[in-house]
Amino acid sequence: MTSRPHWLADSQVRPLLERFGSPLYVYHEPTLRQRLRELVGLVGHGPFHASISVKANGNPHLLSIAREEGLRGDAMSPGEILLLERAGFTAKDIFFIPNNVSESELRFAHDRGILTSLDSIDQLRTWAEAFPGSRVALRVNPLVGDGHHEKVVTAGERAKFGIVPSELDQARSILAESGITLVGLNQHIGSGFLEPSRYLAAASTLLSIAESFPQLEFVDFGGGFGIPYREHESRLDLGLLGRSLDTMLRDWMRKNNRSIEVGIEPGRYWCAECGALLGTVFAVKPRGEGAIAGTDLGFNVLQRPAMYDAYHRIDLVAVQDVDRPTVPVTWAGNICESGDILGADRQGSLPRPGDLVRVRDAGAYGWAMSSSYNARPRAAEVLVGADGEPLLIRHRETWEDLMRGVA
Ligand code: LLP
Repeated sequence: MTSRPHWLADSQVRPLLERFGSPLYVYHEPTLRQRLRELVGLVGHGPFHASISVKANGNPHLLSIAREEGLRGDAMSPGEILLLERAGFTAKDIFFIPNNVSESELRFAHDRGILTSLDSIDQLRTWAEAFPGSRVALRVNPLVGDGHHEKVVTAGERAKFGIVPSELDQARSILAESGITLVGLNQHIGSGFLEPSRYLAAASTLLSIAESFPQLEFVDFGGGFGIPYREHESRLDLGLLGRSLDTMLRDWMRKNNRSIEVGIEPGRYWCAECGALLGTVFAVKPRGEGAIAGTDLGFNVLQRPAMYDAYHRIDLVAVQDVDRPTVPVTWAGNICESGDILGADRQGSLPRPGDLVRVRDAGAYGWAMSSSYNARPRAAEVLVGADGEPLLIRHRETWEDLMRGVA
């Protein structure tokens, strides 16, 4: 089986780790820009905007590239708003989509003039009491969910997000009583689909709901766009998705005789594939027919496999050119938990201590979900430009960082 080529050649792995340390997140600017441009061009006609979801990757260097490419940003917390501001985004390009927050967090966005979406009747009430006469959006739960794992399905009967259709009349009364203008409806049904039928069905539901809100300026269908983590998975057909949204939008505008802007806000799609995680093998144990390869890539560094059973391709970058048998390899980290497994029973060459590892498609929800569990400082991040030059865009945390905040 020949693998897809990777933007980071095997020969570049060692110099990067020698210079910046292990483990290390590395991002590739040309791949990043390519994905961003695909998103900006998704819907060819009609009013359309693409945002990036900061939660997937909050490094301001990457965010500012997204801004340069013409994307807006959505934020889930004041901290994410600050990251977007650090990257040069201004209020008009930021959409705040919180879930279960205090009045002071709502005020944080309001006072900056950032459009906010409320995702429950209670949060709408809090907003209405604090800011009568303002403009808001509402997050709808269209009762259709999707996602690569049950933990990332964000709509449906049991999801914690959004206002369900049967609560919309109540929302309408609160808006009317407080003189608030509803300018947007948004939703996000879940994360990581490679086949868009549920997304399109939910988009169509949102557009039908939009018909009964005459002051609406936009609908935002959310993110969720998957990427092919596995070798033989097909890419999401963005052409088909874009054309379908385009047709839906035009039909809606014709039927309703008014214009409406459409938005999307992908997280994974904009940054997963431009990111690789590099690490080192320190110990190899023969086990069963294969081996357990012990690395510095625990779930403190990349949480997705432990959290969602997520699959990432793991490439051995062998430093010694010796014959190796092909065996099932289980890749483990250095965290004190038996669930600290990056990938189990992957058929491949037997690793040896000192070998290096490249984990693919780690740019989304990689560093962003990393932690200092087991008191391990978080990894550094490096951006490789079109000229191949690496730029340090986040320092590795230090032991002093771990002590910061201890009272
Ligand atoms: N918009 C909203 C309101 C969201 O809640 C999310 C993600 C997104 C946009 C972006 O979703 P994306 O395009 O990345 O699917 N940590 C998980 C994914 C959790 C996504 C949560 N919400 C993972 O690593 O798979």
